[in-house]
Amino acid sequence: MRKVLVLGGDGFCGWPTSLHLSEAGYEVIIVDDFSRRKTDIELEVESLTPIRPLGERLKVWRDVSGNKIRHITISIGKEYRRLLELLITEKPEAIVHFAEQRSAPYSMKSSGHRRLTVNKNLSATNDILAAIVESKLDIHLVHLGTMGVYGYGTAGIKIPEGYLKVQVEEGGKVTDGEILYPSNPGSIYHMTKAQDQLLFSFYNKNDELRITDLHQGIVWGTQTPQTRRDEYLINRFDYDGDYGTVLNRFLMQAAINYPLTVHGTGGQKRAFIHIQDTCRCIQLAIEHPPEKKDRVKILNQMTEIHRVRDLAQLIAEKTGVGIAYLDNPRKESAENDLLVINDQLLEMGLKPTTLNKELMTEVEQVARKYSSRCDQDKIPCLSEW
Ligand SMILES: NC(=O)c1ccc[n+]([C@@H]2O[C@H](COP(=O)([O-])OP(=O)(O)OC[C@H]3O[C@@H](n4cnc5c(N)ncnc54)[C@H](O)[C@@H]3O)[C@@H](O)[C@H]2O)c1
Repeated sequence: MRKVLVLGGDGFCGWPTSLHLSEAGYEVIIVDDFSRRKTDIELEVESLTPIRPLGERLKVWRDVSGNKIRHITISIGKEYRRLLELLITEKPEAIVHFAEQRSAPYSMKSSGHRRLTVNKNLSATNDILAAIVESKLDIHLVHLGTMGVYGYGTAGIKIPEGYLKVQVEEGGKVTDGEILYPSNPGSIYHMTKAQDQLLFSFYNKNDELRITDLHQGIVWGTQTPQTRRDEYLINRFDYDGDYGTVLNRFLMQAAINYPLTVHGTGGQKRAFIHIQDTCRCIQLAIEHPPEKKDRVKILNQMTEIHRVRDLAQLIAEKTGVGIAYLDNPRKESAENDLLVINDQLLEMGLKPTTLNKELMTEVEQVARKYSSRCDQDKIPCLSEW
């Protein structure tokens, strides 16, 4: 049986991905330190959906699917020896790395949050890479990056998949080349993902590690075919001003008739992907690894692009909820254009799940079902930069 470690497998993307891979026939081992659940305690907010403790989730998964997923608590970046021993003992074919602090607003809350995000994310990524080298195993690392490394301005071109073709002119001679697309992070969180890219590039060059970096768009949706199978398997649903992502926040706000919180003019164009497609893309990435001599494989893991105010209008028309145009708490372009190349995952067989009424209604229904768990004071984005 093909074996994978899912680091961060208790989180919003990691949990449904673990179930998806388990159902697809992989032996899955989840590694998580529950830091995301602890951040809920710090922020005094909880997932809108009542997520069960991991042990209970895994027991129910075994009951409904017959498949066993093991779990190990390791704080990646802090417990290097335990991580290394795990690799040596389990010899996984691939590691999927979701285990980072993933909120831009959280990373900008204070100097403490900036430092935590940098220390946590960079130590985690470096420890995984160093452990793969020290284990002497040929393990394919699949990492979740973000479209945000490219920056959220108008590039004026279709954003390529990680590498930019360049021509350098010197003394009348023109040389062609290809470089890592210049990163332009808009928050400390995005900056750590840009730094991750350099770590990958180095370990790939120096140690010939096989690495796939997935620059993912904003994930929306909550349930997948696997998480729907039992209420105990339900996925996390963040709606608060730090961890909630824009489309899910709008759908949840519509469900409780809370005016949709558009920042600025809502002229920001962003790339999106449904959570079901996140799971499929990870499987495709695992099954199409780079060769040993290949450079880091970078894929744009997104399926569609929308302008924030268009999404707000669409949901307002569908549900009758109002729209509140608020001062933008973030430093970002008020309006931008965005074109993205995502050919590689499509060529591997991804059939995109695009924004559709049924899926939006499903998210809204989930939000409505659990609306009594919503603390409306936690909806505004209070982290400013
Ligand atoms: N959610 C999105 O819209 C989105 C978009 C683009 C990229 N991503 C990326 O995908 C990845 C997963 O995102 P998510 O939304 O599932 O986040 P999440 O916070 O819900 O999940 C991350 C999981 O990793 C665990 N974790 C974090 N640091 C750890 C560590 N050092 N050791 C062990 N476990 C650790 C957390 O406890 C949590 O369960 C992140 O790297 C994020 O940057 C997410």
